[in-house]
Amino acid sequence: MNSPAAHPLALQGVVRTYRTGAGALPVLRGVDLTLAGGEIVALVAPSGAGKSTLLHLAGLLEQPDGGRVIVDGRDAGTLADSARTAIRRDRIGFVYQFHHLLGEFTAEENVMLPQLIAGKRRAEAAARARALLGAFGLSSRLGHLPGKLSGGEQQRVAIARALANAPRILLADEPTGNLDVATASVVFDELLATVRREGVAALIATHNPELAARMDRVVTLRDGVLAPA
Ligand SMILES: Nc1ncnc2c1ncn2[C@@H]1O[C@H](COP(=O)(O)OP(=O)(O)OP(=O)(O)O)[C@@H](O)[C@H]1O
Ligand SMILES: [Mg+2]
Repeated sequence: MNSPAAHPLALQGVVRTYRTGAGALPVLRGVDLTLAGGEIVALVAPSGAGKSTLLHLAGLLEQPDGGRVIVDGRDAGTLADSARTAIRRDRIGFVYQFHHLLGEFTAEENVMLPQLIAGKRRAEAAARARALLGAFGLSSRLGHLPGKLSGGEQQRVAIARALANAPRILLADEPTGNLDVATASVVFDELLATVRREGVAALIATHNPELAARMDRVVTLRDGVLAPA
């Protein structure tokens, strides 16, 4: 069940219902999705359809009410919290619409931190951070604090951080949704190029059909289930 050939990510019959004061709100009603190694899939749906919910479940940030989330052949629902945390740290990278960088650390340090937490040596973590940030054209911004970077630069650092531990899966929730159209297009192309070069499988939520068309495959979320675009 844990062979390297296993799919990086599989969702099987995933159900998520929010309990609110007004009653039960079913958001995911049985989501099935399999990502092949290195495959880049666009997740397209209107606002409120459940994209963030689905990504949080896939990223093991939340647990489904039904169904299974399987990462590299391991059913996350059967694992202890410590094992789930280790999978999240070592195998999954997450990019949010707003960068969520740590404001008191430099760009380089933000990309080093997940590696240091995973036990990498400082010199090794710094070398990887510089290589990733260099691929995003940020070699001259290594020492900048996030507040001194442009929006596009902040998002590039956030993507580099998500890839820092060479995950098997990148999950991105409208990673360029906060940028102007021209910057979004450039950052998105850099994201795809880096993800392809690193051989990472990716599930990327976007509202933008033009960006979705640049990925390998598009799935849409409608009425709580996924369908091919
Ligand atoms: N913690 C929660 N409790 C109750 N309802 C929630 C909760 N989180 C999300 N929802 C509801 O679930 C639905 C799906 O939310 P979600 O954030 O996954 O949508 P989305 O597709 O990411 O939307 P957007 O494109 O606006 O980011 C929405 O109707 C939302 O109001
Ligand atoms: Mg969302």
